[in-house]
Amino acid sequence: MSCDTSSIREDFPILNRDVEGSHLVYLDNAATTQTPEQVYGIYEDFYTRYNSNIHRGIHTLSHEASVAYEEAHDKVAEFIGASGGRKEVIFTKNTTESVNLVAYGLGMDELGAGDEIITTEMDHHATLVTCQQIAKKTGAEIKYIEVQNDGQLDIEQAKEIIGDDTALLAVPHVSNVLGTINPVQELAALAHEYDAYILVDGAQSAPTRPIDVEHLDVDFFTFSGHKMAGPTGIGGLYGKQHLLEEMTPFLYGGEMIQHVSLRDATWNDLPWKFEAGTPPVAEGIALAAAIEYLEEIGMETVRQHENELAQYALERLEARNHVETYGPPSGTERSGLVAFNVEGVHGHDLSSLLNNRGIAVRAGDHCTQPLHDALDIPGSVRASFYVYNTTEEIDQLLNAIDSAAADLPDYLASDCYHASLSTITSPTTASWMTPRSRSPIRR
Ligand SMILES: Cc1ncc(COP(=O)(O)O)c(C=O)c1O
Repeated sequence: MSCDTSSIREDFPILNRDVEGSHLVYLDNAATTQTPEQVYGIYEDFYTRYNSNIHRGIHTLSHEASVAYEEAHDKVAEFIGASGGRKEVIFTKNTTESVNLVAYGLGMDELGAGDEIITTEMDHHATLVTCQQIAKKTGAEIKYIEVQNDGQLDIEQAKEIIGDDTALLAVPHVSNVLGTINPVQELAALAHEYDAYILVDGAQSAPTRPIDVEHLDVDFFTFSGHKMAGPTGIGGLYGKQHLLEEMTPFLYGGEMIQHVSLRDATWNDLPWKFEAGTPPVAEGIALAAAIEYLEEIGMETVRQHENELAQYALERLEARNHVETYGPPSGTERSGLVAFNVEGVHGHDLSSLLNNRGIAVRAGDHCTQPLHDALDIPGSVRASFYVYNTTEEIDQLLNAIDSAAADLPDYLASDCYHASLSTITSPTTASWMTPRSRSPIRR
């Protein structure tokens, strides 16, 4: 079934707004997706009918909020194929917090000198920096799976570095820059062959494709609500129940305890053991509504739509000599995003020029500085798509890219450019790109 973008768009009033006198074209979905009425409407319902703290009151409002919040965990579990239900789903603030929960709750106890953490060159800083710090704190060594010229992980090299010393393998399911879909099931089997844990960053995959954590056989899987039509301030961690039971809590305080004396405390049942303090109740319920919304469209339909838009954009960008694209070439399945550079135009300038036409994209390193180092570029511009985006919007992007070089001199002389300089720390147009033919990822 194809994505009915025109009826989907009606659920997102924000898409009707104008930016700089033009109709908004929102192509920054890998950063944060827009939220439909069915999801933000939850807030009015919650705050006008049953706003209260959960698990702490016998009164009706607290009971209703508790039930809705608990059931939201069940909804997430069903969405990602976790048969243990709510016991295997912990609500966190976002992917970053979920990764930290695993790093501290498991890594600090289980890792030490002689152990190895394996991650990848394409990892988001959420995983990469957290793994680096845990390695430093525990004395473990960190190693990286390299990215090949075609934007795929080098699985042969992964097989060489994953071994008896590997304690934790942390990989992104989908790259937020390259759009690559990594062979997570194969990597999980490899990690388990050596009794290592596998942590999968699902920030870009949970929003864009059907997920079955048990089929993939991953130990941990992370995601963020704001990247999947949900609100900010809520994300999640899936963990195999027996692992979560053994792990140390990450945050301490109310809610996460069973019994407290002056000398000690015992921990609550899963998942509450990992949800200290008053949780984001409305956000959790809204996340469940976002999942219902996506299920209504169908995750297989979302996957196809993402790939179709990525292929459409990529084929046309690849055909332009002054544009360099990154990641698997067109013809290879990708997630709905495309990172690129335009010859002679600094990414921040291009992003501003596009914004002047109402088009929202992202420019910079996208929290993947080591990947950009491997690509030998200071940054890239990323257009990322979601269920409401259309090929017409991509055409608008392409037209704007084509006009960018011509628009640049006026822009550089404008107040808008001078104002932007104070907010940009990266180099400007002169030093951004000295393009070339498609360059290899390795120097
Ligand atoms: C692949 C990937 N991992 C992790 C993150 C971090 O997500 P959050 O900022 O919601 O914690 C992002 C966000 O851009 C991402 O794309």
